[in-house]
Amino acid sequence: MTSSRIIIALDYADAAQALDLVGALSPQYCRLKVGKELFTRAGPAMVDKLVSEGFDVFLDLKFHDIAHTVAQACTAAADLGVWMVNVHALGGRKMMEAAREAIDSASHHPRLIGVTVLTSLDGQDLREIGLPGTPYENVLRLAALAKKSGLDGVVCSPQEVEDVRQTQGAGFCLVTPGIRPQGAQLNDQRRVMTPADAIRNGADYLVIGRPITAAEDPLSALLEIQAEVDAARNPTTA
Ligand code: C5P
Repeated sequence: MTSSRIIIALDYADAAQALDLVGALSPQYCRLKVGKELFTRAGPAMVDKLVSEGFDVFLDLKFHDIAHTVAQACTAAADLGVWMVNVHALGGRKMMEAAREAIDSASHHPRLIGVTVLTSLDGQDLREIGLPGTPYENVLRLAALAKKSGLDGVVCSPQEVEDVRQTQGAGFCLVTPGIRPQGAQLNDQRRVMTPADAIRNGADYLVIGRPITAAEDPLSALLEIQAEVDAARNPTTA
């Protein structure tokens, strides 16, 4: 079991490309995120392979459905042996509680995380779907609801991580994408934070894609970011 705080996003269209990258990594230094694209193409067999190679897998399928269906999906994810799974907080309290119960009664207990507001949505998008308030206000409200419903934590952007940590306290697991080391390409990310700042602001886990997956030497890129994270977590021993 790794102690790494880095979750590498395997955003690939096929298993071969994903496995090429995975071959250059080690479960000692990172965890892996399988999202909708790779899962839809490569399926549970891909997850099985990663788990059998010793990786902690975050199955990022953002379940959002009636409570019974989400509970069954969470049981299926737990049976796959994943380390983390997520659901949409907008599915509501009953749906999240059903997910919690399903994970608690499963053969294996992945961390159960909520998605609050997708960062692709702005205030105008929220008004269009009938949600008053800013994205920030909605994130804080939904993070509180996720905690009350028994979830282990939420995904949040670097902009919100400090306030979610403050309002929800220690022990609530915060997973943060939008991470870019100093000087790295932004790609399509706009509001980013360095790994060290995200950790200092309260993130537990960092989801990182292209700064590692598109690097010439992904393992070196990973180890460099790992050193930055370690220094931010233990400033006195760095
Ligand atoms: O390559 P990059 O580091 O931008 O990848 C970030 C990963 O985190 C992608 O899988 C992306 O879908 C995911 N993500 C994100 N922003 C969010 C939620 C998830 O970038 N708000």
